[in-house]
Amino acid sequence: MEDLFTSEENEQIQSQIRDKYRKVSLNPGGFFNYPTGRAGLEILGYDPSFTSDLPDEVSQFYCGVGNPFSMGKIKEGETVLDLGCGVGIDAVFAAKIVGSKGKVFGVDLVPEMLDRAKKNVQILGIANVSFIEGSAEKLDFPKDSFHSVISNGAINLIPDKKRAIAEVFRVLKPNGRFMVADQVLTDRIEKDLKARISTWFQ
Ligand SMILES: C[S@@+](CC[C@H](N)C(=O)[O-])C[C@H]1O[C@@H](n2cnc3c(N)ncnc32)[C@H](O)[C@@H]1O
Repeated sequence: MEDLFTSEENEQIQSQIRDKYRKVSLNPGGFFNYPTGRAGLEILGYDPSFTSDLPDEVSQFYCGVGNPFSMGKIKEGETVLDLGCGVGIDAVFAAKIVGSKGKVFGVDLVPEMLDRAKKNVQILGIANVSFIEGSAEKLDFPKDSFHSVISNGAINLIPDKKRAIAEVFRVLKPNGRFMVADQVLTDRIEKDLKARISTWFQ
C-alpha cells in the first residue's frame, strides 16, 4: 500500500495530536468547534438511560462528533472495540450493553486520555472494559477478535486511513459490524501537503 505521508510527516501529525489531547485530558474547554460534554451527548441523541446519571466530572470530557450506537445494535455478551476511545465514554456505554459476559476494549493514541478513561471506569464502577495505548494503523489484537468496532471522531485524525480501516476489518469477526461517527470533507481539499499537515485537526 502506498504511503500518503512520509514517516516524518506522520510523526509531525501525531505529535500535534498528542499535544492537543494531552491538554484536552486536563481541561477540554475551548478545544472544539462543536458541542462536547453533556451538550454533545444530548444533541446526538444518546440513550438517556446511559447519559442521565453520568456525573459531570465524566461527561465533560466527551468529545465525540456523532452517536455510533444509532447505527446498529450491540448485543449482550459481545466483544467490542472502541477505536480512538478518548476518555472512554462510548466504551462505558458499550460495556453496559454487553454486560458481564461481554468485554469492551478501548484503544487510543494518547496515554493521558487513557488515564482519564481509567479514572472514569473507576468512578462508574464498570469492570468489563480495558484500555490499551496504541495507534489505529496497527492494532495489537488477533484477527476475528470483535463482534463490533465503534469509533467516534477519531478516523479523521489518522494519517493512513486505508491502513486503519484494513486493521478494523482484520480484527472484526466475519459478519462483524463497524459503526463510525466522524467528520468528513465536503469541500475541496487543500492541495499543499505542508498546509494540510499544519491544519490537520482544525
Ligand atoms: C475527538 S476525540 C474523540 C474521543 C472519543 N471517541 C469520544 O467520543 O469522546 C479523538 C480521539 O482520537 C484519538 N486518536 C487520534 N489519532 C489516533 C490514532 N492514530 N489511533 C488511535 N487513537 C487516535 C485522540 O487521542 C482522541 O482521544
